[in-house]
Amino acid sequence: MTLPSITVKLHRQASRQADANYQTYTIKANPDRTTVLDALIKIQEEQDGSIGFRRNCRNAICGSCAMRINGRSGLACQKHISEVMGAQDTELVIEPMHNLPVIKDLIVDMTKFWDNLHKVDPYVSTASRQISKTEYLQTPAQRAQLQAAANCILCGSCYSECNAAAVSDRFVGPHALAKAYRVMADNRDDRTEERVAKYNESGFVWDCTRCYNCNEVCPVEVQPLDRISQIKHEILANPDLPKSTAQRHRHTMVELVKEDGWIDESKFGVIVVGDNFRDLKGLLSIFPLGMRMVLRGKMPYPWQFQKSAGAPEAKALIEAIAEAKKIH
Ligand code: SF4
Ligand code: SF4
Ligand code: FES
Repeated sequence: MTLPSITVKLHRQASRQADANYQTYTIKANPDRTTVLDALIKIQEEQDGSIGFRRNCRNAICGSCAMRINGRSGLACQKHISEVMGAQDTELVIEPMHNLPVIKDLIVDMTKFWDNLHKVDPYVSTASRQISKTEYLQTPAQRAQLQAAANCILCGSCYSECNAAAVSDRFVGPHALAKAYRVMADNRDDRTEERVAKYNESGFVWDCTRCYNCNEVCPVEVQPLDRISQIKHEILANPDLPKSTAQRHRHTMVELVKEDGWIDESKFGVIVVGDNFRDLKGLLSIFPLGMRMVLRGKMPYPWQFQKSAGAPEAKALIEAIAEAKKIH
């Protein structure tokens, strides 16, 4: 059988400081039976021993071989070439993960990824518990709570595609929050309350923009965004926790739409950022913006603000949803 020729375009970068460029190779391979990692190994063994990439198990277990393949992060050992090359694609483009600095070619420095993981205290704590001397058994139902999050192989694909991590240095990332849920939901952990309070702070769940990229790329169905939502539910169920800016944002948006049918921006900033005149620092931070809005005639004064014609319907809809949530 004559094997087709496949063009492979690799990101090359000799060191952290070096400029990046692309180098193109051609291999003969069956795209249905050759993984992206097989292609890289073939190039390294037959054409260019200098290309740098990580790999270990070749079986989607160790998480070492995560990289960007035709614009999407994933495990090179898990993807056959035919899976990642669409009908329009003429080449297989392989790049290092995003959101982490490149060390060489496809190898990234994962220090920040690990540091962020440690920020959620990723270990089950039994410090103040009386632990039996025999096994600490869990029921199948208790174990099932952890199943999805426990699948994580810490490959970094989700972090690489995370929009929040791309713009925020403080956001810990989807992998860390999936692990946060993993330990928080473990019935053997004795620090649940402390954890919920911590994950309510800035840099944790409320910084996620809910872009769904992490759910899309995770190779082992951890679905980090769903885990983030589960943590949010725990936070919202605790009325004693301080309302973060993100929570006020969410609550205020619904309340304003309920009242007026749309959002009155002049109230929105004061309530959310200024915490209803309680947060002086927050108020001062939006003061320059407010002044610019006034000067440019963009400030909707209360007497100018018109409710939407559909305000009663919006209110009825929001109340019906709240009622339905109570029933279910
Ligand atoms: S959550 Fe999924 S994508 Fe993210 S590090 Fe874990 S296994 Fe990889
Ligand atoms: S859904 Fe949130 S955590 Fe997941 S990739 Fe998007 S911003 Fe990041
Ligand atoms: S080499 Fe281990 S996950 Fe790909």
